[in-house]
Amino acid sequence: MSAVVDDTSTALVALAAECENDEAGAALHVMVVAVDDGAAAHADDRALLDDVDRKSPRAGTIAGRRAARAILAQLGRNDVVRRGPIGEPLWPQGISGSIAHDDDVAVCVIDARGRPIGIDVEPALPLPAEVVADVVRDDERAMVRGADGQVDLLRARALFCAKEAAYKACAPLDGVFLSFHDVRVTADGDGWRDDVVVWRLVTSTGRTLRARVCVAPRVMAICTIA
Ligand SMILES: CC(C)(COP(=O)(O)OP(=O)(O)OC[C@H]1O[C@@H](n2cnc3c(N)ncnc32)[C@H](O)[C@@H]1OP(=O)(O)O)[C@@H](O)C(=O)NCCC(=O)NCCS
Repeated sequence: MSAVVDDTSTALVALAAECENDEAGAALHVMVVAVDDGAAAHADDRALLDDVDRKSPRAGTIAGRRAARAILAQLGRNDVVRRGPIGEPLWPQGISGSIAHDDDVAVCVIDARGRPIGIDVEPALPLPAEVVADVVRDDERAMVRGADGQVDLLRARALFCAKEAAYKACAPLDGVFLSFHDVRVTADGDGWRDDVVVWRLVTSTGRTLRARVCVAPRVMAICTIA
């Protein structure tokens, strides 16, 4: 499992470095930890697991908070990251961040300057063809075409991932539910560079965001408000 964590961490650090190419970067801290089904929750996080409204799997929540706690410790803090009314993590004053987990890893990004940010992680698997129309708008298909001109389903999952990260960046600010079609990828920077793309997204609520997305070794996105 440590190789999975190491490979994911390398890719996530590279995505955070992409953010440093524009003003959103430079103060981002990222952490990847393994999701361990047998891990016990930190005493401060046990209440999160009793939250009747929570959707997250128990082991993912434990791992996500472990990642958050590790970054906060690097910043010299020992705050507890509780859960807000719409499921969002509640960060200490002046700090912002985001958490995601899949079956294998939990990832966390923290911006020490407190700017809105979202993260998502997904296994590197094609998006099921039957959900493509629910996720990818007709005017976005060019963003996820492969070399053969057809929709590349792994890139479609990357678009799914970017929109989830965008939602996480916006929801704590706006408290507005966004469907996949409420978030539109309007442009890419230089197109796909190997396994990475930078996308500009616009929401139906008027927010403009920038997502940096990779598809290997997992599909991951970090989204900031532009
Ligand atoms: C929030 C949401 C995107 C999380 O996605 P997920 O695949 O279930 O789970 P992930 O592992 O990616 O992320 C889970 C973490 O997201 C964070 N999160 C949950 N709700 C959040 C919100 N409203 N705002 C910001 N972050 C949130 C939490 O930290 C959560 O982990 P925790 O419960 O252990 O603390 C999803 O549950 C949801 O509510 N979706 C509805 C909106 C949507 O997806 N629209 C389409 C995209 S625009």
